[in-house]
Amino acid sequence: MNILILGAGGREHAFAWKISQSPLCKELFVAPGNSGTSTLATNLNISVTDFEGIKKHVLVYKINMVVVGPEDPLVEGIHDFFLNDIELNHVAVIGPQKAAAQLEGSKEFAKEFLLRHEIPTAAYKSFTKKSLEQGYLFLESLKAPYVLKADGLAAGKGVLILSDINEAKEELKSMLVDSKFGEASTKVVVEEFLDGIELSCFVLTDGKNYKILPTAKDYKRIGEGDKGLNTGGMGAISPVPFAGPVLLSKIENRIIKPTIDGLVKDNLPYKGFIFIGLIVVDNEPLVIEYNVRMGDPETEAVLPRIKTDLVEVFQAIDNESLDEIQIEIDPQTAVTVMLVSGGYPEAYEKGKQITGLEDIKESMVFHAGAKNVAGTILTSGGRVMTVTSYGDDLRSALKTSYKSIESIRFEAMNYRTDIGFDLQE
Ligand code: AMP
Ligand code: GLY
Repeated sequence: MNILILGAGGREHAFAWKISQSPLCKELFVAPGNSGTSTLATNLNISVTDFEGIKKHVLVYKINMVVVGPEDPLVEGIHDFFLNDIELNHVAVIGPQKAAAQLEGSKEFAKEFLLRHEIPTAAYKSFTKKSLEQGYLFLESLKAPYVLKADGLAAGKGVLILSDINEAKEELKSMLVDSKFGEASTKVVVEEFLDGIELSCFVLTDGKNYKILPTAKDYKRIGEGDKGLNTGGMGAISPVPFAGPVLLSKIENRIIKPTIDGLVKDNLPYKGFIFIGLIVVDNEPLVIEYNVRMGDPETEAVLPRIKTDLVEVFQAIDNESLDEIQIEIDPQTAVTVMLVSGGYPEAYEKGKQITGLEDIKESMVFHAGAKNVAGTILTSGGRVMTVTSYGDDLRSALKTSYKSIESIRFEAMNYRTDIGFDLQE
């Protein structure tokens, strides 16, 4: 079959790498893609939210399956767009419909879902401009630090954690009254701070059956020791060493099962990935957030550990027969380290030549903000590429990635040298 992946990051390069190995995949397309995906697939120059443009290409290239990488097209309803179009409704779309994508598109929707289905999460209340004063009172009833979340999509920047009550009140006002995050902060969720250790779990569902994929932990801060500004993710490891069978069974019974049952009860059609951000407090897992897609860079550490043909799994999702599939997981550890442009996540320069990629033999490189201009690979974004390695344990996988990185050069290249620092024995 012909398959189209939507997106342009390392996550989509990793999907292209995995899908291109499937004997079921005849022709592979990525829109818009990057210099990495172009080595495995045909890049199509269309935006992920240009639904009419996507339709045109799906018809021209006789595409049978669309795998949606990022959240925006899902939250804007790409799956519904395909279902409601007579020329497109035979195409399998991997990603939830708009109603279910609200689990990521609206923090308040997600919190209400969690509460309704008795899934453990932080206590919260949500506020609008009109209820600002109640928001102040609620903040006063909480202990520091204070967690403020813009309700809508804010490109991963909509969560603020503040230690000072007055600053928290100021920020709440600036979000609600001065539209700090635009439309996204018309509503703000104020939440109890949870002090624990984070991990992510990934689930595939066809709407009624589910499969649990390997756990991962990502490193979001720009600086060593988890200091400094938040980024899209500076590296990830899989599996998470502290996620043993007891914790995993709590996660499955208290979080994953009620989530899938909740989707059914609430009539929220879901065929795709659910990425559950978790925090473990005193050995008890709580949900921090839902994402309706895979994580980036978590995908670059999780997909390499899946041995099963992903296209076969996607077909089972489309046919609602996921219960008939076994997903085989590689027991090795996989780690991925992100190389970023100097200055990122603040202002940075683009268009720097990247060299040394051909010397990498022991790791896989997934391109993110990189493009091929007449045979030269140039940086085109903040997160440039990610270097994934396997190992028998975390230490050996990391050693391989860091050794491979020594070959790669571009001006002002930056990366964290301490991915997994908190988890090594
Ligand atoms: P989110 O966008 O909801 O994933 O939040 C971004 C980050 O903020 C998370 O990865 C956590 O590190 C942190 N965070 C969110 N909610 C809480 C909370 N209730 N308690 C502690 N940390 C939180
Ligand atoms: N790495 C975090 C995310 O994809 O949201």
